[in-house]
Amino acid sequence: MESRRLLPAFCFCRCVFVKKNTKTIFTCQSCGYQSPKWLGKCPECGAWESLIEEAQPNAAARAASRFLSVQSAPIPIDQVVCDTEERIMTGINEFDRVLGGGLVKGSLALIGGDPGIGKSTLMLQVLHRLAIQNRRVLYVSGEESVRQLSMRGKRLSMQSSHFLVISEIDIDVILSLLESVKPDVVVIDSIQTMFNSDLSAAPGSVSQVREATLRLMLAAKKTGIPMFLVGHVTKEGAIAGPRLLEHMVDTVLYFEGDRNHLFRILRAVKNRFGSTNEIGVFEMRDRGLEEVSNPSAIFLAERPVHAPGSVVTASMEGTRTILIEIQALASSTSLGTPRRTILGLDSNRVALLAAVAEKKAGIHLMGHDLFMNVAGGVRADEPAVDLGIVCAIASSFLDRPVDDSTVVVGEVGLTGEVRAVGQVDARVSESCKLGFTRCVMPSSNFKRAAGIPGIELIGVQSLTEAMEILF
Ligand code: TYD
Ligand code: MG
Repeated sequence: MESRRLLPAFCFCRCVFVKKNTKTIFTCQSCGYQSPKWLGKCPECGAWESLIEEAQPNAAARAASRFLSVQSAPIPIDQVVCDTEERIMTGINEFDRVLGGGLVKGSLALIGGDPGIGKSTLMLQVLHRLAIQNRRVLYVSGEESVRQLSMRGKRLSMQSSHFLVISEIDIDVILSLLESVKPDVVVIDSIQTMFNSDLSAAPGSVSQVREATLRLMLAAKKTGIPMFLVGHVTKEGAIAGPRLLEHMVDTVLYFEGDRNHLFRILRAVKNRFGSTNEIGVFEMRDRGLEEVSNPSAIFLAERPVHAPGSVVTASMEGTRTILIEIQALASSTSLGTPRRTILGLDSNRVALLAAVAEKKAGIHLMGHDLFMNVAGGVRADEPAVDLGIVCAIASSFLDRPVDDSTVVVGEVGLTGEVRAVGQVDARVSESCKLGFTRCVMPSSNFKRAAGIPGIELIGVQSLTEAMEILF
């Protein structure tokens, strides 16, 4: 009886053993799923024909076991020796703030963004700022030659003997460089070009990217050198390669912006050392990126005066308030189904608010096309901009401008009530600083903002009340 029960288990072990010995494995290029057999459709992410045959990535396992063997027994958390001052400030405030207050030693950050948005420029400028503080920095480019880098460096006036550049894609060479050069900060541009000779797959394939990231992560933790990996993005805007990549690194930054606009926004979507709501605003000039320390002033600079459809609202981005101009255009349509084109705002939210405006404030948009935009190419996804959206729609529909010195803040509910928003005092102070003299806000927030001099606060409980005050 006993032996009969053991038999199937023994067979199972044998099967596993045979599979482990397979020389190649099929890896899904979109999610990293692995299978010993070729499959037409990835069972993990559902992508078609995404499985590609690759050599078994046993090098990764070796690297991991090396790392693990360094670890000794677990120790109590309060006995771990660490210095508190382990941050390196780059001196570019917008960048340091997004990282949560400078670079952390031994951290690995991934920075993604569309091609040509300025990732390499940003990284070169960050390294240059560190080099002029007498830190030894290393820029590894797998995309540009040293000559091209030097030409770009000259154009951006980057001359420093501490700034080292190399054009290299072999991960083994790069890791040995870390030991011989001993840099303080390293940038790898880009992770998709890195190549590990242990694997037969082409650079940019899931196994190469994963292996390179893993080895760099282990090196960063071991040596304490902060590293930045530049990552390409897919058509959908996610970082190319396995999703796992974002789990491996400490920080994931996205560098966004419309290439037609001059502004670029650096946003942290994951940060083990700080908040993820922070944004850094930069402007692309002919001599590189420049920090924008007061984005509100720039976003509002070209605001039209007495124009119907334009409303200013205060949006929070991390710890910072940014005043933005929401624009709406409601024009009569000849189409059976009116058009709704929304840029910079959540289109579902706008549809919901348009329905509330129709029911509660008599803004009948049925025969109207509706176009909405946030000036300057910014995105505002916060509920606190709701009242601003409704007021912009109403202002265009009624063809009556909202007073130029008024800021509108508040979340709008389905019954037309105006609900409280967070950090109202910061929003009011910023509005006051930029010369606004009146703020229409939720009455339940009134107490928190009262006492800020130089601005008249008007508390409203419902959308209809706000409409009466504004129009
Ligand atoms: P780059 O950093 O190469 O982009 P990425 O690495 O994200 O692909 O930036 C390239 C773009 O930036 C290019 O289209 C031109 C523009 N640019 C400027 O406008 N001014 C400058 O000083 C530099 C260096 C680039
Ligand atoms: Mg680049």
